[in-house]
Amino acid sequence: MYSIQKFENGFEYLELSNAVAKAKIALQGAHLFEYSVRGKEDLLWLSPLSRFEEGVAIRGGVPLCWPRFGSLDETMMQHGFARLFKFKVLKVEELNKETTLLHMRLSDSKESRELWDHLFELDVVFKISDQLEITLMTKNLDTKPFIITQALHTYFKISDIANITIKGLQNCYYIDTLRDEKCKEQESITIDQEIDRVYIDTDDTIELYDKRRHIRLKTEGSASTVVWNPWQQKCSKMSYMPQDAYREFVCIESANAFDDFIRIGSKKSHTLHLTVSF
Ligand code: BG6
Repeated sequence: MYSIQKFENGFEYLELSNAVAKAKIALQGAHLFEYSVRGKEDLLWLSPLSRFEEGVAIRGGVPLCWPRFGSLDETMMQHGFARLFKFKVLKVEELNKETTLLHMRLSDSKESRELWDHLFELDVVFKISDQLEITLMTKNLDTKPFIITQALHTYFKISDIANITIKGLQNCYYIDTLRDEKCKEQESITIDQEIDRVYIDTDDTIELYDKRRHIRLKTEGSASTVVWNPWQQKCSKMSYMPQDAYREFVCIESANAFDDFIRIGSKKSHTLHLTVSF
């Protein structure tokens, strides 16, 4: 089952449900902001202060950072423009009682070309079932190549930041963007202060252990992973974020960032695929 819903201000989202899972996806940004499997706790953290308003990024869920990750490109807003643009719904397909596919698309427009002068199609496919799959496909419709960096900026809901361990990044190098240093990860990750790191050449499987559950991320087409938690001080200054929210989420972002930028030739495409099981 699916339906298009609206908040009071007219901000639209799709609500999908099947025998095992349900999800809510905003048309703006093809932004998944709620996903749960029957009998299990919500997978994603969503800020109670998040605004569902045109031109404002939703705080939580899975923002799409595209065609830039981060703020290194001075000509572009942080994390690119896709999360602020309205996508079209191409198709909702109920594959069986337990699996729903949603296919959305952002195409270049006068507004996008003012920010980034390229012809493109950005397709996002959500597979909603007892696991979550997100496919992000960039097609270059231009006559010249272009470069993208990107991320599925997933906010995972956790029991408490003190309870989690992230495994699968041991032995990877990372850029510590807080100190502008390159370091090597020695151990699995626990978090007791602000963290903002881009791990390089990452394996395709990363695991998040929480007191109550074990989440597995499997990626294709991504060789960088961002781990981010703002901790207390930054959290209290961030937009649409309750002061102590840093205890309730961790972002593990399946990315193509820094040296893992993607050059896409004319009429070629690149696909980033994420499966989250738990
Ligand atoms: C992370 C970045 O991906 O996103 C952080 O590594 C940033 O530096 C965070 O603070 C949130 O960004 P935004 O634009 O959604 O507030």
